[in-house]
Amino acid sequence: MTDLSARARTLREVLALHNYRYHVLDDPTIPDAQYDALYQELQQLETLHPELLTADSPTQRVGAHARPGFTQVTHRIPMLSLNNGFLNSEIEAFDRRARESLGVDCVEYACEPKFDGLAVSLTYEKGLLVQGSTRGDGETGEEVTANLRTLHTIPLSLPIKNPPERLEVRGEVLMQKADFEALNIAQKARGEKIFVNPRNAAAGTLRQLDPALTARRPLSFFAYGVGALEGFALPATQGALMAQLALLHFPVAAECALVSGVEGLLAYFKRIQNARAALPYDIDGVVYKVNDFAQQARLGFVSRAPRFALAHKFPAEEALTEIMEIDVQVGRTGTITPVARLKPVFVGGVTVTNATLHNEDEVRRKDVHVGDTVWVRRAGDVIPEVVSVELGQRPVHAHAFVMPTHCPVCGSQVIREEGESASRCSGGLFCPAQRKEALLHFAHRRAMDIEGLGDKRVDQLVDGGWVHSSADLYGLTMEQLSQLPLMGEKSAENLIAAIQRSRTTTLARFIFSLGIRNVGEATARDLARQFGDLAPLMSASTEDLLQVPDVGPVVAQSIHDFFAEGHNREVIERLQQQGVHWPIHEASSTLPLSGKTFVLTGTLPHLSRDEARARIEVLGGKVAGSVSAKTHYVVAGSEAGSKLERAQALGVTVLDEAQLLLLLKQEHSPS
Ligand code: IVH
Repeated sequence: MTDLSARARTLREVLALHNYRYHVLDDPTIPDAQYDALYQELQQLETLHPELLTADSPTQRVGAHARPGFTQVTHRIPMLSLNNGFLNSEIEAFDRRARESLGVDCVEYACEPKFDGLAVSLTYEKGLLVQGSTRGDGETGEEVTANLRTLHTIPLSLPIKNPPERLEVRGEVLMQKADFEALNIAQKARGEKIFVNPRNAAAGTLRQLDPALTARRPLSFFAYGVGALEGFALPATQGALMAQLALLHFPVAAECALVSGVEGLLAYFKRIQNARAALPYDIDGVVYKVNDFAQQARLGFVSRAPRFALAHKFPAEEALTEIMEIDVQVGRTGTITPVARLKPVFVGGVTVTNATLHNEDEVRRKDVHVGDTVWVRRAGDVIPEVVSVELGQRPVHAHAFVMPTHCPVCGSQVIREEGESASRCSGGLFCPAQRKEALLHFAHRRAMDIEGLGDKRVDQLVDGGWVHSSADLYGLTMEQLSQLPLMGEKSAENLIAAIQRSRTTTLARFIFSLGIRNVGEATARDLARQFGDLAPLMSASTEDLLQVPDVGPVVAQSIHDFFAEGHNREVIERLQQQGVHWPIHEASSTLPLSGKTFVLTGTLPHLSRDEARARIEVLGGKVAGSVSAKTHYVVAGSEAGSKLERAQALGVTVLDEAQLLLLLKQEHSPS
């Protein structure tokens, strides 16, 4: 190594250390001027000797240029969500289940703040930050490496001699309260957009296409777990992992604590609730995680969330305001929802002007009148709702809500079926409101992801008679679009390009985009995984559908009814003719157990059949009914019969429950 390259390396290391002391520890040990001098020395060296420049040089935080869009990345291990609890009884039940499943008297928990920001994943290969991405839908997110590199609290390389082959650190990006206030003051002075809350400001900043803009707005990061690992010795507990991440210079919340039993959890909750207002960043609750990773693995997952962790949320914020009017909204499936138009009120971090009243019965039950003073509640990203009425303040002119007999949009009759709480417009896709909602859903970022197809464009396209169903989108031309009011040539081009791009999608997104009643994102993914392609799903019987994890009779019936409808089949056929396609079996190909077939037989000591199946499928494995030469593993419990014999005859690997759990654990490093 030459002297110059040794000097460059020393400078990088020293600067990274002082950067860490300044930004993460808030405890600088050299004056700013000295830091600047070292920084300039490195910059000069790199200018004179470009060969000395490395990706983790502190001069390279804002390296990349603005890009036309983000690329999608598939997470090696899905980024799951957390189950929520609000009441002490829910926390007690969580602890009881953990104790009973683990067969212990008392469980040790790692407690952490629940940051109100955005989950991100940072991948380090051989110690270098090579990729940063958003959580997205949990399976795929957006690649935002260049933006994340601009965060001074994120190390560009790991400060250790022998870094692991791969370490994926997961955590939350957020904007601190003081930074948010300062940003809004600056935005206002420049006549630019004011952000409603720190979370939105952080999200907007992270999704900037120009990293230089991200760099100008202060974002913070806190680590709370890991994802895919190679050559990294995972410590035995969450507490030890956090300590290790701190040693690797990742910011870890000072409020993290270890506690025992449910008393410990509830005491922690109280403590953090009292500290909440004084914290430098927004939190919406706390997170409890079973501390021991071996115990976490034994508890496993239900659907999309771990059984070993729980978010204990703070009660939603409420505020008083007045109802000026009650309108109805026609939803995607024709549901007519009464919506209260409110005197604007600031609650839960945003100004609320509308709140849902859910349905006719709810309006009656809460006895809501137009003109009433009401309590409005908003929590997280959920739609604000009217909680209760201050009856003492009802004015004389207040009047009751009457559900319209005809759809306010298309005039079709409004019907309410026996035993149903929802009233519906009977106009189906003839109702422009339903058509518009269906199109917006189809174009949604988590569905076909057609950027630029928002409320206003959909209104224009439907009202102008250009688009009747989603399939019509793919026939739109530049000429047609440029006739629309307020549509410049550039936006028309962009919209056509976005529609064009959406032709290549995934099966899960496509299923979700169809807007089948009761089929959300998670169910769409499960269906994609189970059926592998659209044709078998379309011809599935309700019995077939009931085999899918988490699909019960109501959902199975909705799916079956949807595909039985000629109009829906026709639209799907036209979409495919227009070139909408997806790779077959894509959903599971990148998961650790994809391509592996399991057969379950006999009774397992701890796991039910359904649990075992769910845990295999979450990692991309398939569970089949019978043993063949293609079976990879047979999992045998007590009283296993002919399937076990057949497995032995065919030489298929037989696992007991403990071996299965070990396999799942190896393939699934907890986060
Ligand atoms: S752990 C398998 N820890 O909550 C669990 N999540 O609902 C993985 N979050 O998307 C998450 N603070 O954005 C975890 N201390 C914390 C967290 C936290 C905030 C967010 C995160 C995640 C969501 C899950």
